[in-house]
Amino acid sequence: MSLDSLVQRVEAQLLPHVHIESVDPNDPVVVRKVPFPWRALGMGNYAAVFWHPEFPDYVIKVYAPGRPGLTEEAEVYRRLGTHPAFSECFYRGSNCLILKRLEGITLYDCLSLGIRIPKQVIKDIDQALDYAQSRGLNGHDVHGRNVMMYEGRGLVVDVSDFLNQEPCSAWDDLKWAYYRFYLPILAPMRLKVPHTVLNMVRKTYRFFRRLLPYRKCDRKAP
Ligand SMILES: Nc1ncnc2c1ncn2[C@@H]1O[C@H](COP(=O)(O)OP(=O)(O)O)[C@@H](O)[C@H]1O
Ligand SMILES: [Mg+2]
Repeated sequence: MSLDSLVQRVEAQLLPHVHIESVDPNDPVVVRKVPFPWRALGMGNYAAVFWHPEFPDYVIKVYAPGRPGLTEEAEVYRRLGTHPAFSECFYRGSNCLILKRLEGITLYDCLSLGIRIPKQVIKDIDQALDYAQSRGLNGHDVHGRNVMMYEGRGLVVDVSDFLNQEPCSAWDDLKWAYYRFYLPILAPMRLKVPHTVLNMVRKTYRFFRRLLPYRKCDRKAP
């Protein structure tokens, strides 16, 4: 199946019928309606990501009405080119991008499912962020829902804020928690951390980060 026929399906079948809403800008968007046979693969605070079974290697990232970042994300992918730890952008519509599908599971979901995260994943993401920096980009807003693990390797799934040159401590904070808390305490217990607890941690972290302006990591409005 060609990219052209996917674009046609997206424009004719997905976009006119999908219904996405950003209820609270600090929480993931809500998908109210997905036309068959499209499937929602994931939700971020700006967009939802969909997949069609006849086009298994692609995903469609649809931005919720009024949420910024699409143009910037397309530009980041242009600068990144091809790299094994990142997706690629093949098409840019008015409110959607067609991206390479990354297989795997977000580190956030690893915690909730009790799946062990090896050190290699963290090292791969560090290297990917170094590569992004070599392309004039900044690893901004790299948190547990924006990074994935596949067959023991690390991937960066969301690069939409990488044009933002302001410092962001999200990845350093996550690494700190990984080495100081996850590896010595959580991983040996093989605990599944419930979504309610992960959400509490996310909100508490967000609250404290706001007290330290230089550590702010929110996406820049255009
Ligand atoms: N290329 C991709 N391949 C597979 N899943 C993806 C891809 N991009 C995003 N996702 C899934 O969709 C979720 C939301 O996408 P993300 O780019 O983080 O949106 P936002 O910009 O709104 O934060 C991710 O956490 C991930 O689960
Ligand atoms: Mg995201």
